[in-house]
Amino acid sequence: MKEEKYILVTGGAGYIGSHTVVALIENNYTPIIVDDFRNAQRSVIPRLEQLTGTKLSVYDFAIHNQQQLINLFQKYAFAGVIHFAADKAVGESVVNPLKYFKNNLGGLISLLEVMTQFGKQNLVFSSSCTVYGTPDDVPVTEETPTKQPESPYGYTKLINEQMIHQVQEAHPDLNVALLRYFNPIGAHESGLIGETPQGIPNNLLPYITQTAAGKREFLTVYGNDYATPDGSCVRDYIHVMDLADAHVAALNYLSSQHVGEDVFNLGTGNGTSVLEMIGYFDEVSGLSLPFKIGHRRLGDVPEIYANTEKATSLLGWKAKRTVKEAIRNAWNYEQLMREKQ
Ligand code: UD1
Repeated sequence: MKEEKYILVTGGAGYIGSHTVVALIENNYTPIIVDDFRNAQRSVIPRLEQLTGTKLSVYDFAIHNQQQLINLFQKYAFAGVIHFAADKAVGESVVNPLKYFKNNLGGLISLLEVMTQFGKQNLVFSSSCTVYGTPDDVPVTEETPTKQPESPYGYTKLINEQMIHQVQEAHPDLNVALLRYFNPIGAHESGLIGETPQGIPNNLLPYITQTAAGKREFLTVYGNDYATPDGSCVRDYIHVMDLADAHVAALNYLSSQHVGEDVFNLGTGNGTSVLEMIGYFDEVSGLSLPFKIGHRRLGDVPEIYANTEKATSLLGWKAKRTVKEAIRNAWNYEQLMREKQ
C-alpha cells in the first residue's frame, strides 16, 4: 500500500487553492482541504472531484478555530501545510482594515500556534509581490528591499512574512517557503475551475472577461500616462496552473532538506501592459473589447515583474504557459460558467 502524503491546504476551495489541489493530486499528494467557504463556492468541490477523479477530504471551518485544527493535526501526519486562507481584496482592505488584520494576521497566528505544537513541519505560505511596493528597479529579485505596501491587504502580507520569520527563528524545526506571487490569472484548461470574484471584479482579467460576456459595459484602463512603453501599467501575469505547480515544487524542496526559511518570486519574468492584455484578449477571443482610458488608480505600481532565477535554480520550476494561454483558459471558464447559470 502506498504511504499517503497528506498536505493541509487552508483555503483549498479558493482560486489558487483549488488549482493547487489539482496539481497536488497529479503529483501523488493527498490534499486535506480546510475552507469555510466565506469567499469560495461550494460547487468547486464536486467540480474538483470530477476533474481529478478523486473523493476529496474537506473540512468546513475557519482556521481561527484551533480545536478543529488540532483535531486535524492529530488525525493526519501532515507532510506539509499550504496556507492560502486569507482575504485579498485590496480596495476592501482600505475600507475595512480590521477585517484584514483579524483574518490575515489572526488566521496565521492560529495556524502557527498549532503547527509549532506538532514538531517538525513544512509550511508553504502565499505571499505577494505587493511586499516590494513600488520597486526602484525591475525585474525584482528576492533581494530587492521590501517597502511599506500601499494597502492594509499588502501590509498584512508583509507582516505575515515577518511573523513567520520570527516564529521560525524561535522554532527552528519549522521549514518554510514564502512564495511571492506576481499576478495570477487564467483557469484550468478543463474550464471546470477558475476565478469567480464576488461582485464587481477588482482584478484586470476577470474584469475583461466579464466585460466581454456583457456583464460590464466597458473596461476602464487605469491610466495611459505612466513612464512605460505604451503608458499603461506593466505586470507579470502568471498562469494559475504554473503557480499551482510551483507549490508542489516548493513542497518537494522542503521535504528534501531543512532550509529553515526561504523566499521565492513566482512570476514568468516578463512584463505585460494593460493595453497589451486587451490586444491579446481580442486576438484570443476574436472580439473587440470595449474599453476607455481612465484616471490612474490610487496605489498602482507603474511597472513590476519578477526575476525568477532563484525558483528555477532551487525549486527546478519555471512558468511554462503563456499569457495568451491563460487568457484563453479564463475566457473559456467565463463562457462555460455563463452557460451553467
Ligand atoms: C493586486 C495586488 C496584488 C494581488 C493582486 C491579485 C497590490 C499593489 N496589488 O495586484 O498584491 O496579488 O491584486 O489579487 O496590492 N487594471 C485596469 N482596469 C481594471 C483593473 C485593473 O486598468 O479594471 C490595471 C491595473 O491598473 C493594473 C493591472 O490592471 O495595472 C492589474 O491590476 P490588478 O489585476 O488589480 O492587480 P494588481 O493591482 O497588480
